[in-house]
Amino acid sequence: MLNSKTSIIILAAGKGTRMVSDFPKVLHPILGKPMIYYVIDAALNLKPLQIIPVVSYKKEEVEKFLIDNFGYIFDFAHQREPEGTADAVKAAIKHINRSAEKILILSGDVPLIRTELLSKILEEHKGEITLVTTEVENPIGYGRIIRNEKNKVIKIVEEKIANDHEKAIREINTGIYCFSRNFLEEYIYRIEKNKQSKEYYLTDIVSLAVNANIEINTIKIQDADFLLGINNRVELYNASLRLKKNIIENLMLSGVTFIDPFSVYIETTVQIGKDSVIHPHVYISGNTKIGEKTIIEQGVVIKDSLIGDNVNIKPYTVIEQSEIRDQAIIGPFAHLRPESIIYSKAKIGNFVEIKKSTIKSGAKANHLAYIGDALVEENVNIGAGAITCNYDGEKKHFTHIKKNAFIGTNTSLVAPVVIGENAITGAGSVITKDIPDGALGVERADLKIIPNWHKIKKRIKK
Ligand code: UD1
Ligand code: MG
Repeated sequence: MLNSKTSIIILAAGKGTRMVSDFPKVLHPILGKPMIYYVIDAALNLKPLQIIPVVSYKKEEVEKFLIDNFGYIFDFAHQREPEGTADAVKAAIKHINRSAEKILILSGDVPLIRTELLSKILEEHKGEITLVTTEVENPIGYGRIIRNEKNKVIKIVEEKIANDHEKAIREINTGIYCFSRNFLEEYIYRIEKNKQSKEYYLTDIVSLAVNANIEINTIKIQDADFLLGINNRVELYNASLRLKKNIIENLMLSGVTFIDPFSVYIETTVQIGKDSVIHPHVYISGNTKIGEKTIIEQGVVIKDSLIGDNVNIKPYTVIEQSEIRDQAIIGPFAHLRPESIIYSKAKIGNFVEIKKSTIKSGAKANHLAYIGDALVEENVNIGAGAITCNYDGEKKHFTHIKKNAFIGTNTSLVAPVVIGENAITGAGSVITKDIPDGALGVERADLKIIPNWHKIKKRIKK
């Protein structure tokens, strides 16, 4: 797909008043990514000559997002005061490359558009202007497509100025257009300010063309779901639902079971292997890849992580920027903080927190432990309540627990410290020195037994 003679204008300057927000509308997220992300992504796949985002309201924020997230040099256009979609196109016109022949116009607030649809529009574009329309159940808010008795489009009427007859029309303007460059460069300046709304409507270009006997080419799309425009948070929610349904259906078709698909949150970037099972209320985001036959149980949160095959993540576990290898068992109620690597067949149990640590194969920390800045080697057993004291108030220090070591219940490992192979620490010990291989490290005051204490206590009280 190479469209070296196509320039793409993306309208993203509007304030988005109907969002009732301090943030620019196009930065409001759908399943974790600002809506403009999806539009740019679809546009970039076309490999166009150039992309011209038109920005105005909080333009620095929008530009920064685009620059930071796409390795691409955009030709940003600035609209001083957003005075309507035609005014936005005027701001973009001066940036158009002289070798462009077609100009594709997209809206930053129509985010679910697909690259395939855009390709189809570019292929089917003929003459001066191609309009993309669709039919919707509820056309409120959209520009209505007015056709004559020969079914030819004669104009677009915006909601604000439509009469009752026009408002009943369900064929709407999707806000996606393709123009020949010469036509657009000439006609955009002929659009007059709408007297009622005091805006320059790009949609008025249709009646101007019709008056000049220019044929309007239309592409009517059957499935309107991916052409929804977003002007308020209800529409944002509806678009999120549509996108989520699509993600989950694709995963289901590739072999993933969802026990309660309505209750999960899952982003477009997430990959899951076949025969994995996702339980209710699971949240999976970012660059997360889950292997095959893995079970993710209720209420689990996973962000930017790599999970292997046959892993079992039990309820209410939180995993961030970590890696879990095949057949590991995690949770319930475990917390894996960034840079944790859990090797195959390791077990991390309830109320265990792991931070920036590697837990090798077969090692276990089954209950109530904190392991931070540590290397825990193969088959180590970490007892209930054991803690790595990794922070001295100023710096973080490292703990190294070697193969087959046994860390007794409630041991405090004061880092930096090394526990040798097959070494044991006694329950409740505070370990401040390295323990050699095979040794027992125990640090405990002698136990005092005072017989008949309850009688002595009564006597003292009198
Ligand atoms: C627009 C169309 C309408 C169509 C609908 C599809 C016009 C006049 N109306 O209506 O026919 O059915 O989209 O979703 O074009 N923008 C600017 N600068 C401006 C004004 C808007 O860049 O001065 C941008 C907005 O950021 C937005 C896009 O243009 O991304 C569309 O503007 P919006 O105000 O949302 O138009 P709609 O009322 O949705
Ligand atoms: Mg809109």
